[in-house]
Amino acid sequence: MQQNINGKTQVLGVIGNPIEHTISPIIHNTLAKLLQMNLVYVPFKVEQNGLDKAIEGAKALGIVGLNVTVPHKEKVIATLYDINPLAKQIGAVNTLKLTEKGYVGYNTDADGLFRSLNKHAIRLRGSDIVIIGAGGAARAVAMLCAREKANKITIMNRTLAKAKELAHQVRQHYQTQVEVIGFQETEGIDTFDVAIQTTPIGMFPNIRDNPMTDDSFYDKFHTAVDLIYNPGKTAFLKKAEEKGIQILNGFEMLLYQGIKAYEIWHNLEISDNALEEVIGQIKH
Ligand code: ATR
Repeated sequence: MQQNINGKTQVLGVIGNPIEHTISPIIHNTLAKLLQMNLVYVPFKVEQNGLDKAIEGAKALGIVGLNVTVPHKEKVIATLYDINPLAKQIGAVNTLKLTEKGYVGYNTDADGLFRSLNKHAIRLRGSDIVIIGAGGAARAVAMLCAREKANKITIMNRTLAKAKELAHQVRQHYQTQVEVIGFQETEGIDTFDVAIQTTPIGMFPNIRDNPMTDDSFYDKFHTAVDLIYNPGKTAFLKKAEEKGIQILNGFEMLLYQGIKAYEIWHNLEISDNALEEVIGQIKH
């Protein structure tokens, strides 16, 4: 329970729909407690057609920071005063910071993934990366890989046209070599350093589903990352682990995207020790 709310308490929050299962309030209120900052962070359910009014209202109320989740991450861009370059490339915003002129938008999902990869010594720079999927999450991953100077990005997707479109978008911003391949295509493909799974395949409750059933695929790379965090070990990661491949799920990415938002809002840097504290609170 938040204590000591007074006239100086800052209010922040997350807007989305549904919003009941968000863990963002735990992340931010735990950090606030840890750092002894006078703020509260609350969930706001905002319907699709209520976005503009919600942003106007938040501005009028002086809400200094907002996270934005499904279904508003793309539409919210139209309401912004300014947007961070990476968020613009990704075409999606999950963090708003209030300035005198209005909200500035950021995308901390990519930074969250980057910090999680770094923590586990998974390098993007100079690496060959295969991305499974070509949706919104894949776009964030692809732009991050390009920004971090991956050697080559290969996008594997069911709808090849979407993979090609994403490859085109990456090339518009970066010189990185980008290729596309069909879904589950393994014959004659190159080897990679890291495979990053961005589709919802294998997410709870469909935990047996695996976007890559061909055993030979797992001989092609030595690190497997899945953005899914529920279950903690997807069928894809289980199979990779059986093959002796290093694995990483999306749980830390989720926490780090929150930590990055906190850093943006409050102009400070948060050490990895805070992460352990947040994890402790989530497991409570
Ligand atoms: P997100 O924003 O979470 O990335 P999205 O934009 O809807 O969600 O993208 C979902 C991705 O998962 C897409 O690449 C989609 O493939 P298509 O482009 O062919 O639609 C992929 N995906 C979802 N369900 C899938 C399935 N059952 N089999 C193969 N690919 C699937």
